[in-house]
Amino acid sequence: MAKRKGKTVAESAVEMVEVVLPNDANTLGNMLGGKVMHLIDIAGAIVAHRHTRSQVVTVAVDNLDFLYPIRVGDMVILRAHITRAFRTSLEAEVKVFREDYLTGERRQTSSAFVTYVALDASGKPQEVPPAIPRGTEEKRRYREALERRRKRLALAVRTHRRYFEKA
Ligand SMILES: CC(C)(COP(=O)(O)OP(=O)(O)OC[C@H]1O[C@@H](n2cnc3c(N)ncnc32)[C@H](O)[C@@H]1OP(=O)(O)O)[C@@H](O)C(=O)NCCC(=O)NCCS
Repeated sequence: MAKRKGKTVAESAVEMVEVVLPNDANTLGNMLGGKVMHLIDIAGAIVAHRHTRSQVVTVAVDNLDFLYPIRVGDMVILRAHITRAFRTSLEAEVKVFREDYLTGERRQTSSAFVTYVALDASGKPQEVPPAIPRGTEEKRRYREALERRRKRLALAVRTHRRYFEKA
């Protein structure tokens, strides 16, 4: 099969904006962690769809942290981009910011690395185009993604042994 043409990081990058409504919050008036995770997955999945132009599924989420609360009425901004594509999977980095709509003050509240697998029409993993990093930052993230992948797969083998066993 011919080698797939690469795509730049910028081609699939995403910025999403939401407003936190009372239904998204806990009894303290803070946005629910599960709702933040949902938005992270959506933002990362859009990156994966744009990069692969195929169906994708989420296979792993790493390094998800919640540094500051997001309050009802705040705007939530999600920035997501591909760090690196592998064979049938790719890693997206998603950063979450809260923005005070009165002052405009913006602060990062979360970040995560999410791995997606591209699927063909029959639901089998299919090859993804290489990601082309441009500039120092993108190249650094590209290099670091390989090390994260090694650790992620090693951990998955240890903790979900059966997952990788073939029948
Ligand atoms: C993702 C899935 C299709 C992989 O199936 P599989 O039979 O393990 O396929 P493979 O062994 O060929 O692995 C496919 C890719 O997944 C990657 N992968 C598998 N397990 C992984 C893990 N725990 N973490 C990171 N990547 C993983 C493999 O490294 C491979 O990527 P590569 O080709 O770039 O190296 C399958 O596990 C699945 O359907 N999982 C459920 C997904 C889901 O429902 N998500 C939630 C809703 S979107």
